[in-house]
Amino acid sequence: MEFEDVVRKRRMMRHFKPDPIPEDSLDRIIDAARRAPSAGNTQGQSLVVITDPEMRKTIGEICGEREYAGRFKHNWVSEAPVQVIACTSEKAYRDRYSEPDKLQDDGSVIEWPVPYWHIDVGCTVMALLYAVVNEGLAAGFTGTQRLQELKDVLGIPDEVTPVGIIPIGYPDQDVKSPSLKRGRKPLDEFAHRERW
Ligand SMILES: Cc1cc2nc3c(=O)[nH]c(=O)nc-3n(C[C@H](O)[C@H](O)[C@H](O)COP(=O)(O)O)c2cc1C
Repeated sequence: MEFEDVVRKRRMMRHFKPDPIPEDSLDRIIDAARRAPSAGNTQGQSLVVITDPEMRKTIGEICGEREYAGRFKHNWVSEAPVQVIACTSEKAYRDRYSEPDKLQDDGSVIEWPVPYWHIDVGCTVMALLYAVVNEGLAAGFTGTQRLQELKDVLGIPDEVTPVGIIPIGYPDQDVKSPSLKRGRKPLDEFAHRERW
């Protein structure tokens, strides 16, 4: 697919057909996500990829999909044949930036202008979302307040933070999010040319 078509077609999907995703598509999606940039090439991002139906139900429950089921009349997160949990490790960045080539001249660790570990996992999620569309599939995104429970059921280590759940599958007719009424920001409000 042309890159511009991928960008324009991508939207968050909240209803999926039960058909499984071809293994080679899933491999390409995961590999695209792995190729996302990272500060200092830390690569503190990681994924948990779930296909097991029982675990998908558990994850759907942890995401509070029942709330959505009332609105949509169907499940959302658990009906997708694949769920990807995007994760990041702040510790990986603190360790990487303590290495000699990243230390300041006075030997100190940089002051973080912004949390690079969050930026990088955002890049990973975006790469994954575009790769999904490129495979003729669709994906959604949801966070959860129940992070520790999510970590416990998936055996995610203490120092790793799951930032969100991405259900992936073949799109079905979904109910559009009320947030879409906000429309898309006009270009000149979004991009400030030369100065704000
Ligand atoms: C960090 C993040 C959290 C989101 N959380 C939810 C969510 O909990 N439930 C949901 O239905 N959509 C969620 N979304 C999807 C947004 O609602 C969606 O991206 C936005 O309305 C724009 O629509 P589009 O992505 O289809 O263009 C989330 C998106 C992001 C990036």
